[in-house]
Amino acid sequence: MNTNINLFSPYQLGDLELPNRIVMAPLTRQRAGQGNVPNSLNATYYEQRASAGLIIAEATQVSPQGLGYPNTPGIHSPEQVAGWKLVTDAVHQQGGKIFLQLWHVGRISHPDLLPDGALPVAPSAITPQGQAFTFEGFKPYVTPRALETSEIPDIVEQYRQGAVNALAAGFDGIEIHGANGYLIDQFLRDGTNQRTDKYGGSIENRVRFLLDIVEAVTSVWDSKRVGVRLSPSGTFNDMRDSNPLETFGYTAQVLNQFNLAYLHIIESTDADIRHGGTAVPTDYLRERYTGTLIVCGGYTNETGNAVLANKEADLVAFGTLFIANPDLPRRLALNAPLNQPNQESFYGGGEQGYTDYPFWSAAGEQVVSL
Ligand SMILES: Cc1cc2nc3c(=O)[nH]c(=O)nc-3n(C[C@H](O)[C@H](O)[C@H](O)COP(=O)(O)O)c2cc1C
Repeated sequence: MNTNINLFSPYQLGDLELPNRIVMAPLTRQRAGQGNVPNSLNATYYEQRASAGLIIAEATQVSPQGLGYPNTPGIHSPEQVAGWKLVTDAVHQQGGKIFLQLWHVGRISHPDLLPDGALPVAPSAITPQGQAFTFEGFKPYVTPRALETSEIPDIVEQYRQGAVNALAAGFDGIEIHGANGYLIDQFLRDGTNQRTDKYGGSIENRVRFLLDIVEAVTSVWDSKRVGVRLSPSGTFNDMRDSNPLETFGYTAQVLNQFNLAYLHIIESTDADIRHGGTAVPTDYLRERYTGTLIVCGGYTNETGNAVLANKEADLVAFGTLFIANPDLPRRLALNAPLNQPNQESFYGGGEQGYTDYPFWSAAGEQVVSL
């Protein structure tokens, strides 16, 4: 039977009806205001993109300790909750749906960014290669402090409180950021986790931190409004693992028990392979994870439609294309030309390269409007 599933087919995500299968990937833009508070400019940016089947808002720290870059939004103060409410209201007014990505960067931080100049925390005291993005520019990463076992419940509590705050801010759901070398990923992979307590060693132990967080946030949200993002093949932020197939195959399988909204996978890139990563094929994860699967990484109109038609995934997330094309679903549906993203305005700044990408107009003139 040919059901002709494509990017424009509706999708039932738990109790949410998505009008299309085009997801806006979480995208850090470093444009929150003083106190890491989202503002009306951020609301305009998301409102412009509300035609996505689902928006996953940018990575948002659950605590001051979880901050890794200047001007990223938080979800731990009343002002931040109020700021996010501007965003969720604007998106809902346009008929859109929006999840919040909950974030703690772990070792990918710097004392300059943390309260009282504290050391970043991590599963183990292993220094990442590379440089932190501080208020004064780039500085080499420092050696993080390994968390005591007794401190871990406090970090899990930061996520639970973040989930409570996301609910108050009017989000439709939350995504747990388990990807890209941040704290949860640091626990999952043995290149960064050399603990000898119940959070280290076997994959059953390394996944425990993620599962504790899933349990905590699903005590706040219905599990069908909670997603998890993983980057099984990723090497970003100096990540490695001795057996990614086992690590992520197991993680995908063990998440089945929660009846989550989805598992969101960042697929391997050429850069990951060049940096010594092992590609974990999506079909390998598809065999192990029985729920909704979102794929992301370099998708186009053509490859997005193909991955859905082949049933390799249920939804497709687009990152950089959504930065440059606020009306991406319409452009893809019409096969209209796409604006090209300007990398220089990805991180930080104001309207330029953020809310001024033009919408498509059939008459040829390009307009910035809703
Ligand atoms: C500017 C920028 C910011 C990003 N911020 C995040 C983020 O906050 N959280 C996250 O999980 N991934 C983040 N990513 C990764 C994207 O969500 C996505 O996985 C990546 O861009 C690949 O998809 P694409 O080829 O469609 O752009 C970011 C990527 C870019 C380019």
